[in-house]
Amino acid sequence: MTRPANDTFLRALLRQPVDYTPVWLMRQAGRYLPEYCETRRRAGNFLSLCKNPAMACEVTLQPLARYALDAAILFSDILTVPDAMGLGLYFAEGEGPRFERPLREEWAIRDLAAPDPMVHLRYVMDAVSEIRRALNDSVPLIGFSGSPFTLACYMVEGGSSEDFRTVKTMLFDRPDLLHRILAVTTEAVTDYLNAQIEAGAQAVMIFDTWGGALPAWAFRQFSLDYTAQIVAQLTKQHDGERVPSIVFTKGGGQWLEAIAGIGCDAVGLDWTTDLAEARLRTSDRVALQGNLDPMALFASPNSIETETRRVIDNFGHHSKSSGHIFNLGHGISQHTPADHVSVLVDTVHQYSRAFHAVPPA
Ligand code: CP3
Repeated sequence: MTRPANDTFLRALLRQPVDYTPVWLMRQAGRYLPEYCETRRRAGNFLSLCKNPAMACEVTLQPLARYALDAAILFSDILTVPDAMGLGLYFAEGEGPRFERPLREEWAIRDLAAPDPMVHLRYVMDAVSEIRRALNDSVPLIGFSGSPFTLACYMVEGGSSEDFRTVKTMLFDRPDLLHRILAVTTEAVTDYLNAQIEAGAQAVMIFDTWGGALPAWAFRQFSLDYTAQIVAQLTKQHDGERVPSIVFTKGGGQWLEAIAGIGCDAVGLDWTTDLAEARLRTSDRVALQGNLDPMALFASPNSIETETRRVIDNFGHHSKSSGHIFNLGHGISQHTPADHVSVLVDTVHQYSRAFHAVPPA
C-alpha cells in the first residue's frame, strides 16, 4: 500500500473527513508559468514535451514547487489517444491542435481500432511511473483522458471548432457512424485509463469539455452513456487503495443528477453551477470539484480572496457524507499572473478549515 503523506485530495474524493478543502487547478502546468515556457522551448514544441517522459515529469512538478497544491496531474493532452489511433496530431503555432487525417470517410470510420496503450501510448505510461517516483508519495497523481464525445469532436472536426458543424452534421445524418467512433473510442479510453492506473495514477478524471454543446436529448445517448461505460470498467482498486474517478462535463450543470448517477466518485462543475444547489440535487452522494471562474484570477489579490471564500461559503459546512475539492471551473488561462495563484491556494487552505471542524456538542 502506498498512501501519499498528503492524502487530503483522495479522502475528499471518497467523502471522508479532512482538516481542510484540498485544491488543485485544471491546466496547473502550463504557459502562465515562465519555467513551463522554458522547458517547452527546450523540448521544441508542446507535443515533443508530451512525448518526453523526463520533461513531462519536470513540468508536472513545476506548479507543486511554487504552490501548496494537494494533487499533481499528469502532464499530457487528451488528444494523444486519437493520435495513437493514427489521426496524426500536430499543433500549429498559435492555432491549437490539428489532425492530419480527420475522420470523415465511412471506410476510415469502419477501420478505426483501439490502440494498445502499452505500445502506442507507452510514453504516457513511462511519464506516469517517472512522476510517481519523483513525487515520492508526497501528493497523489491524477491520470486523465478526454470523454469519447469530446475526443470525437476533435477527430471529426480535425481540430478545435466554434460550432461543431461537421460532427453535429454526422450526428443528425449518420448517427450510426458517430456511434461507431464513440464505441471504439470508449474501448480506447477504458484501456488507456486502466493502463495509467496500472502505471501509478491514484485517481482519474474524464474531461467531457464539449458534452455541454449537445442538445439535451442527445447528451445521454452520445456522451454520458459512453462515459458511463468507461466508469463501469475502470480498475477500482490498485495497490490496495481505491482509485476514485472524476467526471467533468463543461456546461453539464443541468444534467447533474444524471452525471452523478453513473458511478463516478466525483463530479467536476464549471462556474455556472451553484455548489449548494448541486449538493442538494446529488444528496451528497458524490464529491464535487470546482468551481471558481478562471477569470477571477485576473482580479486583485483582495478580490481573489473574496471570490475564493465565496466558493467555500457556497459549498458550505461539511457533513459526514460530503466532499469538496476546490478547483477552477475550467483550465487556468495562459495569461494568468503566476503570483495570483498563491493567493487562491493559501486562502483555500486557511479559510476552509472552519468548514471541516466538528461543531461543538
Ligand atoms: O491540467 C494539467 O495541467 C494537465 C495537462 C493538460 C493539458 N491539456 C495540457 C495542455 C490537460 C488535462 C489537458 C486536457 C485537454 N486538452 C482538454 C480538456 C480540458 C479542457 O481544457 O477543456 C482539451 C479540450 C485539450 C485539447 C487541447 N490541448 C487544446 C484545445 C489545446 C490548445 C488550447 C490552448 O490553450 O492553446 C491544447 C494544448 C495544451 N494542452 C496546452 C497545455 C499546457 C497548451 C499548449 C502549449 O504549451 O502550447
